[in-house]
Amino acid sequence: MRIDVLTIFPEFFREVFDFGIIRRARLAEIVEINVHDIREYTTDKHRMTDDRPFGGGDGMVLKAEPIFNAIENLLGTSAKESYPPRTRVVLLSPQGKVFRQAVARELAGDADRIVLICGRYEGVDERVNDALVTDEISIGDYVLSGGEPAAIVITDTIVRLLPGALGSETSAENDSFSDGILDCPHYTRPADFRGMLVPEVLLNGNHAEIEKWRRKKALEKTEKFRKDLLNKGE
Ligand code: ADE
Repeated sequence: MRIDVLTIFPEFFREVFDFGIIRRARLAEIVEINVHDIREYTTDKHRMTDDRPFGGGDGMVLKAEPIFNAIENLLGTSAKESYPPRTRVVLLSPQGKVFRQAVARELAGDADRIVLICGRYEGVDERVNDALVTDEISIGDYVLSGGEPAAIVITDTIVRLLPGALGSETSAENDSFSDGILDCPHYTRPADFRGMLVPEVLLNGNHAEIEKWRRKKALEKTEKFRKDLLNKGE
């Protein structure tokens, strides 16, 4: 998979993709991640990436032209109907569809090429949405200063789902949400830490018992913190 990030703050991403699973996946060429400065695609003297909103109001709006130029440069066209196959252009904004594990799975499975456009300020010229964007995504019901943290969240979530990205093929299957509920509690050595004991069942090697216990604990946690997950099977 190839992921391209369009941002006016490329420095924001300087090291975030250099650790752990993402780093390993990049080194193994499971994913290629490129960060592009939207300002590099301006054509005016002042290299302006934003401007005042038509109709008045507070804040600045990201201009269409540099983003169109960047997409044309990356994908060879600025008409979403003509994108190469298995290509998604995602606008990060609080107005988008809410990002969930199911959305991550869909993108990881259906796309080879993802361009993440980090929105900023009061918004992005709507013509970007109309002509370029295939998916508008929000990472949750809160407002960030820009889409950059969301691009990191989405990249991380998708990359760990790509075949071979995790050391063990089964690890992602046991993650929270993968079967619609939260993950169970985990423990490691020592079995007695300052008098706090690891549950006996985890020490006795009875795998059927352990699985039963894990499922029960996962359900208890889900019931306690995310009852909504139990009612929708997503
Ligand atoms: N930009 C600002 N807020 C955002 C959010 N919640 N998700 C994605 N992009 C954003």
